[in-house]
Amino acid sequence: MSDSPKTQEEIRLTPLFEVAVAARDKAYAPYSDYKVGAAIVSADGVIHSGCNVEAANLKGGTCAETTAIAKMVCTGQTRIKEVLVVGLGNETCPPCGHCRQLIREFADADTRIYGVKPDAEKGFSLVRTYTMEELLPDSFGPNNLASAKAAP
Ligand code: THU
Repeated sequence: MSDSPKTQEEIRLTPLFEVAVAARDKAYAPYSDYKVGAAIVSADGVIHSGCNVEAANLKGGTCAETTAIAKMVCTGQTRIKEVLVVGLGNETCPPCGHCRQLIREFADADTRIYGVKPDAEKGFSLVRTYTMEELLPDSFGPNNLASAKAAP
């Protein structure tokens, strides 16, 4: 619980948090019992929601971020401005390694990824804001493939 009032940034992020929580409520996670919701803002300002979807073979599932990104791409958008993820419990839900790579595919230097945790007073508190480089330093990306193709 926090005794500080909502910051301006937390007020700005409240719609994103609410979209992520609503998606988390719809998560299909009967095996891990760990429901996750994601809200992703694309370059056109639209918020795309996603939840995790598990499968009985325990390998075929998808993460909340993956769901949201797939929905974003289906609308024709391929740049991510902001990412906010909420799991269960009292801690932040940092994107897993696989999701970091997928977010990176559509990220740029201005992309921001928010680590939030529940707060009994404020609903949530913003713990940390990451750049893509902070979340996945020295990453492999489309440029590596393009420069290899261009090499003599
Ligand atoms: N999960 C996500 O949806 N996103 C992440 O970044 C971390 C993990 C999901 C996958 C699985 O359904 C459950 O959380 C437990 O790992």
